[in-house]
Amino acid sequence: MLSEQAKQRIRDLLNTYETRQSALIPALHIAQGDQGWLSAETQVEVAQVLELTPQMVREVVTFYTMFLQKPAGKYLLQVCRNLSCSLRGGHRLAQQIEDKLKIKEGETTQDGKFTLISVECLGSCGTAPVMMVNDRYVEDLTPQALDRMLAELT
Ligand code: FES
Repeated sequence: MLSEQAKQRIRDLLNTYETRQSALIPALHIAQGDQGWLSAETQVEVAQVLELTPQMVREVVTFYTMFLQKPAGKYLLQVCRNLSCSLRGGHRLAQQIEDKLKIKEGETTQDGKFTLISVECLGSCGTAPVMMVNDRYVEDLTPQALDRMLAELT
């Protein structure tokens, strides 16, 4: 269940955004921050707080890869696979993570430490290739830097 604090923060969004629909994405970020992921129950709760239909919430959750529909590992690795990052080796970095951690995209390591997903542009194309580790940007990634980072986290 969403915490009371998260529900209040979502209600407060309604003072900032013109429509309930426009508050939905930030509301889902709050809910995901509160719960770690967006279960069907959490989605219904968000719908209730914003007075939207559960279907409206579900459509947004399933459209954006940044919204997690199942629990993630301690470290959520989000690798950008959009154009700038792909041209600068982003897909090879994703492959490197898959090989190193022995998981495929969308999977979590057996020890629950890492989840790998690919995402659309992270808005930092000038420092491609880019990934995020939880809320932290990792930019200008090289295979060597990625190796070092994974070693530090394991
Ligand atoms: S294309 Fe990767 S950050 Fe924009």
